[in-house]
Amino acid sequence: MTEEHTKDVFDRYARFVSPYKAETWSGYGIDFVMGRREGVYVWNLEGSKRLLNCHVNGGTFNLGHRHPAVTRALREGAESLDIGNHHFVSAQRATLAERLAAITPGDIQYTIFGVSGGEAIDTAIKVARGYTRRPKIISALGAYHGHTGFALAAGDAKYRDPFGPLPPGFVQVPFDDADALAKVVDGDTAAVIFETIPATLGMPMPAPGYYAKAREICDRAGAQLIVDEVQTGLGRTGKMWGIDCFDVVPDILVTGKGLSGGLYPITATCLRPHLMDFFRADPFIHVSTFGGAELGCVVSLAMLEVITAPDFLPAVRRRAEWYASRLEELRLKHPGALVEVRQLGLFIGLRYAHPEGGPLMTKLCYDAGMFALYANNDHRVQQFLPPLVINDAEADETIHILDQCLTTLQSMIA
Ligand SMILES: Cc1ncc(COP(=O)(O)O)c(C=O)c1O
Repeated sequence: MTEEHTKDVFDRYARFVSPYKAETWSGYGIDFVMGRREGVYVWNLEGSKRLLNCHVNGGTFNLGHRHPAVTRALREGAESLDIGNHHFVSAQRATLAERLAAITPGDIQYTIFGVSGGEAIDTAIKVARGYTRRPKIISALGAYHGHTGFALAAGDAKYRDPFGPLPPGFVQVPFDDADALAKVVDGDTAAVIFETIPATLGMPMPAPGYYAKAREICDRAGAQLIVDEVQTGLGRTGKMWGIDCFDVVPDILVTGKGLSGGLYPITATCLRPHLMDFFRADPFIHVSTFGGAELGCVVSLAMLEVITAPDFLPAVRRRAEWYASRLEELRLKHPGALVEVRQLGLFIGLRYAHPEGGPLMTKLCYDAGMFALYANNDHRVQQFLPPLVINDAEADETIHILDQCLTTLQSMIA
């Protein structure tokens, strides 16, 4: 095959996939097609532009690209496995579910596997409604849980409005407002669902006692508490799960993205024991052909082995402390541009003074060799998600780039 260039790929993508997505990226001056990818870096097709990936697809590439142990598991798994049969009992699914039970909070025990985060959220909502036989689902205003049915209904209006009529029973409250939550949770409520820290909403940090109160409010009404850990899970916050930072055990925990190190689509909806009762009457009321594919399970197990090694989370916490100091220095150096650092571990949001600071910094960083995308539901914020395995020199490079771009941003908005 002859080597193809970026422009040719843009043309074919515009003709056969989406002219509008292609136009959007070109218009933004980000004519990038991923070529080689290794560790924390991705290169364009020609190899002439390199980006340090601090977007990491929202946690998908927590371990960087093509982590050797995870890539090896995929290669070796493909020698003897395929997706398996989703109706049969499966050794690989049993092993991965057992591993997840060991590392999820409290007595969470069972796992229902899926392919995408949206599917896993839909499943969580199905289980909550099926178990409680109640209709109401409460989520955060401006939330994002994916583009599938129930996940879409629980998300922000801008994603769901064109697709009505949507399923009834969905109610939204401001995030981190326990009084507002207490007012809407009642005897009709099946579940309250929050992304532990809402990434797309710009990573607002909840008050320390918020989740304990949310847990109490749910318990009082017999409602299930669902946490969406698709971005905050798997070590990103310096603990295994974001919700571990708040000492609360949810009834359902959803994980995805980084679960297989960016090498296989697999997600998990993890349940406390009581919820399994719902499946007694019909164990096959929910199935997914590709969900928990056996090949994906062995890839996920390899990824989990990396992040459960004794040194892994302490190293993430040390790196987070290092970033906290460096980012505070940047905030003090560029007070007219960077106004707030929102941080829990390496889950970091940079809030800028300018209302479009997020998109502006995304482009400036791209030009300077780093990719970190703005928060779509709050354009003042840029999501900054360094790979959890970033080394000293690479971390220095991210700070150097941010410093340089903040100087430019400051001069643009002065
Ligand atoms: C918090 C959160 N939940 C759910 C999803 C949906 O995941 P997927 O794109 O795999 O359907 C995403 C995707 O970005 C997400 O960030």
